[in-house]
Amino acid sequence: MRAGAAAAAVAALAGLAGCAGATEQQSMLNPSGTRAQAVDTLWQTMLIIATVVWLIVVGVMAAALLRRNRAKDGSGRRAPLFVAVAGGIIPAVILLALTAQSTAVLRATDSGAVEPGAPFVSVTGHQYWWEVTYPNSGVVTANEVHIPTGQRVRLELTADDVIHSFWVPKLSGKTDMIPGRSNTMWLQTDQPGTYWGQCAEYCGWQHALMRFVVVAHEPAEFQAWLSAQAEPAANPTTPATATPAAGPVSTAELQARGREIFMSSSCVYCHAIAGTEATGKLGPDLTHLASREYLASGVIPNNRGNLGGWIVDPQSIKPGNQMPGTDLPGEELQALLAYLESLE
Ligand code: CUA
Repeated sequence: MRAGAAAAAVAALAGLAGCAGATEQQSMLNPSGTRAQAVDTLWQTMLIIATVVWLIVVGVMAAALLRRNRAKDGSGRRAPLFVAVAGGIIPAVILLALTAQSTAVLRATDSGAVEPGAPFVSVTGHQYWWEVTYPNSGVVTANEVHIPTGQRVRLELTADDVIHSFWVPKLSGKTDMIPGRSNTMWLQTDQPGTYWGQCAEYCGWQHALMRFVVVAHEPAEFQAWLSAQAEPAANPTTPATATPAAGPVSTAELQARGREIFMSSSCVYCHAIAGTEATGKLGPDLTHLASREYLASGVIPNNRGNLGGWIVDPQSIKPGNQMPGTDLPGEELQALLAYLESLE
């Protein structure tokens, strides 16, 4: 029985170690951002102090158990002073010091602590995806927040339907997204890279799969990304020089055909593509869909197979999301995919 319990404990520890590995991409204990770093330092300080205090308390308790008869010889008279110092003065000093450090971290990470002219991103939570807009340049994207490195980026967060929470563990703590209200926070990292984010407020069936990425670029690279995103969508049209009817269909023809299918289907009621008649607002903007690394808010890599699967049967990938499936004939689906893949 005891061996069984020990085996279970070992298995549980191995499981925890596995979790730690799997969640490294969302680890608060491996910070890369200014705000997360400040919170991590505070947490480490508290952990070290708590560990030392615990060891001392356990040590004193053990000593008291082993030497409990010593009071008979009169040495116990020092006890009141010991209780006053160890039980009152030392804890008060420790707690005051931690309060001071917590207050300093609160001030350093304050949501208002950002320059008025800082880069500005607005993020709106939807069931179950993230609408990301850059109001100063008119760029709209989804499920990817691109930021420049080395500066504070102001974020304005709100929600469209229910409460969500914006959390990028390696860069910052959580900020709630509340319908009808705008909450402010900021992000800063000095290391270019991709950082995973996660909805941190239960919002329905697909809460756990409401993910996103923050992509931090060097400032020049960020500007290039922003300029590319501000361009209208690719607009494939059938080439004037018609190919022989019997020959293979060219990519351009396929894309133009896909564009027609998109514009004449129900896609346009929910999705917008800048520069076209598609102006739906219920789902993610698709103007530069092909430039995104993931689909379905960070759930599947953006490639042809996944995109096709998502269009045909999104409910099997994220049950309860707002997108209905489609029963397009295979030939039309291929054309639609060719068009969507041209939206770089
Ligand atoms: Cu959105 Cu949980």
